[in-house]
Amino acid sequence: MRIPIIAGNWKMHKTAAESVEFVESIKDQVKGTDVEVVICAPYTLIHSVKEAIQGTNIKLAAQNMHWEDQGAYTGEVSPIMLKELGVEYCIIGHSERRQYFNETDETVNKKVLAALKHNIKPIVCVGETLEQRENGETDALVKAQVVKAFAGVPAERVAEIVIAYEPIWAIGTGKTATAEQANEVIYNIREVIRDLYGEEIYTEIRIQYGGSVKPSNIEEIMNQEDIDGALVGGASLKPDDFVGLVNF
Ligand code: G3H
Repeated sequence: MRIPIIAGNWKMHKTAAESVEFVESIKDQVKGTDVEVVICAPYTLIHSVKEAIQGTNIKLAAQNMHWEDQGAYTGEVSPIMLKELGVEYCIIGHSERRQYFNETDETVNKKVLAALKHNIKPIVCVGETLEQRENGETDALVKAQVVKAFAGVPAERVAEIVIAYEPIWAIGTGKTATAEQANEVIYNIREVIRDLYGEEIYTEIRIQYGGSVKPSNIEEIMNQEDIDGALVGGASLKPDDFVGLVNF
């Protein structure tokens, strides 16, 4: 039985005061939910969100991390630093990081292994561009991203990883993949995990959809058999929308 996970990715938004106000305004409204509720905060807000979510069912994620424990990497943040702050999840390989900050499948893999080493659960993002979809490359591309991200991950750690399938053409564009399109790719991703790890493991891993998810389309997405949650950008910034997503 996979517990659905709804994660709000705030990206580069909010001040500390706004983050606390957000948590205060949603915490009572999300406490009865059966889904796992996660806020992916920018580094600067991790401390304030951690304090604000004390005693609630809301969990804390970072949006990125380096793979080294420490070292001369100006501007970077290590998994040890995140763990110390109480971070439970970390987004790894978001398409914005791949696109603007030169993240590759290799660095994604290093980060996945580093996160697991420090008991931070990775939310690994994969997904195709519009051009790749139109060229019929989606399945092969997403498969390659998953295989590379999971290189060296032992079977007993796989269930700690969440995969977020985010077609790049649907992120922040208002264009959502149809629920069926999303489910089809997510089904195929689970098959990749079956090929890699076998029958027992592949049913355990949670796979989210991300890309213009909002209160008006969450139900249709969550009703799909293989979709275990959503990674949400824009609609996670407003308390009412986020509550609507969690209580879909
Ligand atoms: O991490 C979240 C995704 O990039 C989706 O963003 O909901 O604004 O399309 P969006």
